Amino acid sequence: MDERLLEQIDKSRLPQHVAVIMDGNGRWAKKNGQPRLFGHHNGVKSVREVTEACGSLGIQYLTLYAFSTENWNRPEMEVKGLMGLLVDTIKKELLTLLDNNIRLHAIGNLEGLPSATRTALVEAIQKTSSNDGMTLILALNYSARWDILNATNKLLETHPNTQIREEDFTAALSTSGVPDPELLIRTSGEKRISNFLLWECAYTELYFTNTLWPDFRKPDLYKAIIDFQNRERRFGKISEQIN
Ligand code: FPP
Repeated sequence: MDERLLEQIDKSRLPQHVAVIMDGNGRWAKKNGQPRLFGHHNGVKSVREVTEACGSLGIQYLTLYAFSTENWNRPEMEVKGLMGLLVDTIKKELLTLLDNNIRLHAIGNLEGLPSATRTALVEAIQKTSSNDGMTLILALNYSARWDILNATNKLLETHPNTQIREEDFTAALSTSGVPDPELLIRTSGEKRISNFLLWECAYTELYFTNTLWPDFRKPDLYKAIIDFQNRERRFGKISEQIN
């Protein structure tokens, strides 16, 4: 089934940047009669699989919403467990990232992360910085409104009395230098953006699937890309102007 789906993908029209809201870990754990953290641990398998699939397809940027600013409101045990899982995963997967020429990058308020998470992250970012294959971006302690406000405050300092152009604003965001995502996938049946890449998703195609994140595998990614390729992206124009 993987191969049949893979054949349907037009390699010349791949999205350059895919973003993912990985949702449903808790429900997956509950379904399996396990604590929520069990779901997050199994979500890491999906992270590996999707990263590998995007890398081999030739997608240039993959952004994963790993921890939102709002996620601090979860029970302390879950937050601690998630932070620990992030540190372990980043350390464990560093060699895989290097072997696969993947550059790690992060967006969000990294200063607000526990020091162990920040240290592991910064080290992996530095060690992979000369890789020139796919860029894997982890959104950590991220919220789009935080990023927009942060950019606005930076611009107030650097451009005190001038008009701000769209490109100035884009350059002041933590996603600076990264093309806007063409495809945003959200798993688990929820149909919300949840404070993710609000500026960057102005023209992004949204794809929602009922599959829970720990069940999301390569064929699910291929289906999302095929669906994306079957859409007509008009950017405000009419159909005849595009074709
Ligand atoms: C959402 O499911 C998932 C998260 C908030 C965390 C996602 C994190 C991982 C998969 C581990 C990340 C690891 C790396 C290295 C990126 P939920 O808990 O909101 O699920 P629910 O809606 O069913 O409760």
